[in-house]
Amino acid sequence: MISDESCLRFRLPSYWNKENGSRNELKPMDSEQLREYGHRMVDFIADYYKSIENLPVLSQVQPGYLHNLLPDSAPDHPETLDQVLDDVKAKIMPGVTHWQSPSFFAYYPSNSSVASFLGDGGGVIQGSASEAVLVVLIAARDNVLRSVGKKALEKLVVYSSDQTHSALQKACQIAGIHPGNCRVLRTDSSTNYALSPELLQEAVSRDLEAGLIPFFLCANVGTTSSTAVDPLAALGKIAKSNEMWVHVDAAYAGSACICPEYRQYIDGVETADSFNMNAHKWFLTNFDCSGFLIDSVNLVLIYAPTRPQSFLPRSENLNPKSLSTNPLLR
Ligand SMILES: Cc1ncc(COP(=O)(O)O)c(C=O)c1O
Repeated sequence: MISDESCLRFRLPSYWNKENGSRNELKPMDSEQLREYGHRMVDFIADYYKSIENLPVLSQVQPGYLHNLLPDSAPDHPETLDQVLDDVKAKIMPGVTHWQSPSFFAYYPSNSSVASFLGDGGGVIQGSASEAVLVVLIAARDNVLRSVGKKALEKLVVYSSDQTHSALQKACQIAGIHPGNCRVLRTDSSTNYALSPELLQEAVSRDLEAGLIPFFLCANVGTTSSTAVDPLAALGKIAKSNEMWVHVDAAYAGSACICPEYRQYIDGVETADSFNMNAHKWFLTNFDCSGFLIDSVNLVLIYAPTRPQSFLPRSENLNPKSLSTNPLLR
């Protein structure tokens, strides 16, 4: 049963001041306050960046420390910006590992530029390359199962080279692909660790003969360990003649292809159904920013099972290789 008081609180832009029993109007921030607080926030970030070199790089607390510092429930009255910033300094900061520190050498380096702070307002395009490959693998899986029947799941086969990022393997596990149907094709130095079209053709033919269903190829432009670039055009031709989905994982090196002199590395990309590159690697953008491009026809495949028709983008209005941002895919 909802009390009169709580109904009132939901309906009216007001809140009860428990201390003195009065009701205060909830006022949205106006543009002058936004300006004032915005300046304070920028000062806060600039001061942090100025002193970051002196902070311990690794967080200095034990997991779970924050739990003891938090109140049992969220406050039901507003706090000033000063109080919020004090909380950030006293409670949050000790738990932070400072990726932007010049002494941070773990994992990928602190790869966002100071200029990019101004453009980073939070939010993501696609969370990660791993998410991108999972999204397309599931779309491709459901698409093929629609025509061959759900019971054929155990017959679906995925192809990639042995240089491919483990994100694909994880996606296969999540998508329910039979572990014995993940073909990890060998590469060697004779092709600079690129996937050989002949090997792919042989594997696909063998699987077809065995009554299996080849349905997904993950090709690479710049693998993490060897920077191998797969021959997209030749691989795409084989995949397309077998009605397979081609995803290009260019998470690591794809940014380089913005330079005309490196564009050749994505020759044949037009045969791909989907393409991903991580702007948070060489584009000096903060985590997470995976640029994910997908053929408009396939975009509809991702939507179709869950979204009402009215939410579908009109495919004729989409550039077939247009950048698809997260709101379209979530
Ligand atoms: C080639 C390649 N593919 C996939 C990934 C996974 O990227 P993410 O961490 O965005 O999922 C990486 C990350 O290092 C990568 O280098």
